[in-house]
Amino acid sequence: MRKILDNLKLYFKKKEDKNETICYCFNISSNDIAKEVNQGCESIRDIRNNTKAGMGCGRCNAGVERVAYNAIKNRNKNI
Ligand code: FES
Repeated sequence: MRKILDNLKLYFKKKEDKNETICYCFNISSNDIAKEVNQGCESIRDIRNNTKAGMGCGRCNAGVERVAYNAIKNRNKNI
């Protein structure tokens, strides 16, 4: 079970390293979301308001939250 979780973490980390498109409605990438977090956005609402990610069809909401969570975690590691 542990190995499966480690492989899943690695899979998602690789996807984020690739600057994948998260929101197709507004063409927002994982780097765009990470940039917002690094510029001080503290909530999903702020990220949505600034980038419009998730404000179209809404299919990307889980992806926006995942990338934002990881970006906040990485930002806090570097403080
Ligand atoms: S894919 Fe993000 S709102 Fe539609």
